[in-house]
Amino acid sequence: MSARELQNRPCGGRYVDVLQSIGNTPIVELKRLSPKPGVRLWAKLESRNPTGSVKDRVARSMIEDAEEKGAISAGQVILEPTSGNTGISLGMICKLRGYPLKVVMPDNVTPERTQLLQMWGAEIVFSEGAKGSNGAVELALELAASDSRYYMPYQYGNEANPLAHYNGTAVEILEELDQVAAFVAGLGTGGTLMGNARRLKEALGDSVKIVAAEPMQGEPVQGLRSLDDGFIPPIIDLSLLDRKIFVTNSDAIVWTRKLLDEEGIFAGVSSGAIARVAARIAGELDEGNVVFIVADDGWRYLSSGVYTRPLEEIENLESTLWW
Ligand SMILES: Cc1ncc(COP(=O)(O)O)c(C=O)c1O
Repeated sequence: MSARELQNRPCGGRYVDVLQSIGNTPIVELKRLSPKPGVRLWAKLESRNPTGSVKDRVARSMIEDAEEKGAISAGQVILEPTSGNTGISLGMICKLRGYPLKVVMPDNVTPERTQLLQMWGAEIVFSEGAKGSNGAVELALELAASDSRYYMPYQYGNEANPLAHYNGTAVEILEELDQVAAFVAGLGTGGTLMGNARRLKEALGDSVKIVAAEPMQGEPVQGLRSLDDGFIPPIIDLSLLDRKIFVTNSDAIVWTRKLLDEEGIFAGVSSGAIARVAARIAGELDEGNVVFIVADDGWRYLSSGVYTRPLEEIENLESTLWW
């Protein structure tokens, strides 16, 4: 019996194991943050996945794809560059499926991420923090080229990444909403934007606008990238994006707090950036649904003080802290 057939909404469904329970996340209306009564702002809570981020979908999709293609078998070492979330999701899946995992991650991510990876038994190789996720990608590619024991799913170039959204996230949004005026997500690998864009445009045509939230160059927000940094992930087809809107670090933080204080949504900092863009788009429309992605939960950023310290204090902190 498939997960869909087993599903028993609204209790959340019955699944054969935790991996099958990935996805089927709630979509929640944010009335207080919507700038106009006729425009409905919706948050798709990917933070409700088993490890707390949207990357559970992607990690499962990439591992199952590799298994189906016969590219991996039990005991094979999985190697992946990640700013944390994909590594954490791979950590859970690899532990359950019997693959040792090695992740390459910038050395300035929050300690919670390191601990979560260690908790799942992953080996961590640190790359230079100042180089951001590009530094992690470079180092992982070098390691993979030097040792044939590694299998690298490589989320930046793996079609199983956007497909997880094409077959999952977007289908779930369409199940709940008949019309979507705009879909807003952060740009990291581009998987969320590409997979949702393809499915939503197939279903709704050009009436749906696909909007990317991008950090300002030199102002990294954990999980997101500026295409101006010079690396365009191979899975990205820029023609599918209707707009790209830049967000400052300070806006990302202010909006992370707004999500918490005004709507009770405890989200990571990239979700603040994404919410900022979604609210701006909502302000430009007269009516319709604006859907945005809450990519992860706030637990893994607690040590940064983002949720508790006075805003004036945290807005001026070193931008690398948010990496
Ligand atoms: C916290 C967070 N937000 C947003 C994203 C962006 O998602 P995508 O890689 O699908 O572009 C990521 C990806 O790593 C992330 O970790």
